[in-house]
Amino acid sequence: MSTKPQNSQRKTQDWLTLGVETSCDETSCAVLDGKDRILSNVISSSLFRHKPFGGVVPEIASRHALEQIDTVFSEALSEAKVTPQQLELIAVTQGPGLIGSLLVGVSFAKALGYAVGIPFVGVNHLEAHLAAVFIGNKAPERFVGLLVSGGHTMLTLHEKGKVKILGATVDDAAGEAFDKVAKLLGLGYPGGPVVEREAKSGNAKAFLFTKPKQDNPYAFSFSGIKTAVLYEVRKERHGLRQGSVPGTRTQKSDLHGASGVMSETQPPLKADFVRDMSASFQTAVVGWLVEKAIKAAVDKQCSDIVIGGGVSANQYLRMQLHDAGSKNGIRIHVPEKILALDNAAMIARRGLEIFGQTRKTGAWTMTGVPDLKITAGV
Ligand code: KG4
Ligand code: ZN
Repeated sequence: MSTKPQNSQRKTQDWLTLGVETSCDETSCAVLDGKDRILSNVISSSLFRHKPFGGVVPEIASRHALEQIDTVFSEALSEAKVTPQQLELIAVTQGPGLIGSLLVGVSFAKALGYAVGIPFVGVNHLEAHLAAVFIGNKAPERFVGLLVSGGHTMLTLHEKGKVKILGATVDDAAGEAFDKVAKLLGLGYPGGPVVEREAKSGNAKAFLFTKPKQDNPYAFSFSGIKTAVLYEVRKERHGLRQGSVPGTRTQKSDLHGASGVMSETQPPLKADFVRDMSASFQTAVVGWLVEKAIKAAVDKQCSDIVIGGGVSANQYLRMQLHDAGSKNGIRIHVPEKILALDNAAMIARRGLEIFGQTRKTGAWTMTGVPDLKITAGV
């Protein structure tokens, strides 16, 4: 593919990049001017369509992306006051994510790249989450990354453009745990923001949860706390701790079944219980995240921690991390809330960095990769 003549005159770091993000339930397009100036970041969420099911339904998410992508693209360009011909690079989420949704973005990016005659690059969604905080801010040379999203939770070490995964969750992601606990408490989907809201007026010491024991000190596990919450919910409803209760669903379908929305078939839990459980759960999860992130930074002699992903929007996590960071002489880098959640500006930023290093456009055979692994440092 030939690159437009005017592009050869400009350094890539000054290019106008279109970001395209369709990895899950959001459809987003953004225009980034150089590395640091967001001209637009339009996000269309399909959340309202998933709410009745208590979680993301992949088929609905991909249909939403297909319906919305043209409109979101046009809005992003008009807000940025840019024409398609002025774009110089397209960065698109290649994975990880839902295959149907990923395919919409990847196909769109390739078709646009062909039509306008500009390069496109595939971006790892997780790398982009950790790059989000550096839009408009200088990146440290070396840092520990704490990625906390709906599908992933991991600690990484970033050094000279290379990344090492220190540890990851062995079962549920942190965001997934928030979502499942919210469902058990009858708070709806997505769980993070509602649990955070309820937790504000709850007693964090009402329920104490055992920290999971793990050989790798940087690994996480959240399935135990989710089950512990389930038992407390049962106890609260029926005065029972375990086993099947007439009229209730089994533990498995309470947590995983598409139609197993416990709260819909049961009377609501007492408001005090919901608030106290939210506060106790949030305190435990945030405590484990903070403790391990600080330990990783201290062990690896890193004076910077970068957080990213939907759960990094949590105010309590931000506060606790800042407190622990200042006690240990570690700087904490936190993205703006809008950049913590799924958005295309972070994809554009990461794509521009990748293209600056490789100067290679994506292959026409490029496709979505649902389990794409992190391979490069940010
Ligand atoms: O990064 P993200 O937008 O999508 C994925 O890549 O997964 O993360 C979504 C996750 C959801 O599980 C949601 O409940 C969680 O982030 N989340 C939060 C908060 N806002 C969103 N978790 C805790 N507190 C929040 N304020
Ligand atoms: Zn994400």
